[in-house]
Amino acid sequence: MPAAPEWPTAAAFVPATGDLGALRDAAAGCRGCPLFENATQTVFGRGTPHARMVLVGEQPGDVEDQKGVPFVGPAGHLLVQALDEAGVDRGSVWVTNAVKHFKFTTRGKRRIHATPDTFEVAACRPWLVAELARLRPEVVVLLGATAGKAVFGPSFRVTQSRGAPLDWPDVPELATAWERRPVALATIHPSAVLRAGDARAEAYAGLVADLRVAGGALS
Ligand code: URA
Repeated sequence: MPAAPEWPTAAAFVPATGDLGALRDAAAGCRGCPLFENATQTVFGRGTPHARMVLVGEQPGDVEDQKGVPFVGPAGHLLVQALDEAGVDRGSVWVTNAVKHFKFTTRGKRRIHATPDTFEVAACRPWLVAELARLRPEVVVLLGATAGKAVFGPSFRVTQSRGAPLDWPDVPELATAWERRPVALATIHPSAVLRAGDARAEAYAGLVADLRVAGGALS
């Protein structure tokens, strides 16, 4: 029988112990999947280590890849505005991504975002799990389909599940580190608002409404 294919994974790069700083340092050297080859750097999460709410995006964009910080480009500015409007204190959250390297194609000099494949999301998942295990948040906001799939699996659909608190799935890696599971809440990605054209105001209002629900789920 042929050997089972070896799927890429970051698991071997993720330290079992240490704080978020140790994770960040280790993540900088991650070679767990091929995305590190073209990206400028790993973009680890940022925020307060005492965050009760974690927001998970898809992957760093062009600006984030260059600066090494998540959500500092156009989508990040919109997210900050939406958090403010929803009454969520942006200083009290942690912001990260399901995939920690920028995936892109090139068109001339431009780098165009490319959606990570399922196997890349799975490969990077140990970093997200490790971050969450250190943070132990009460609420995890999943911004868009990739973040939703990273937590709930490839069949997750934001359109079917957004805006209402969801039970956290059974994730054995988290069970020991965490006595109380967080609530998950899915919503659209801020980039989807930026791309919504004529429907932008409505899309933005929906994002704000969902973030308000997330804020309300904090105890
Ligand atoms: N989009 C994301 O999902 N994450 C970022 O950090 C920036 C844009």
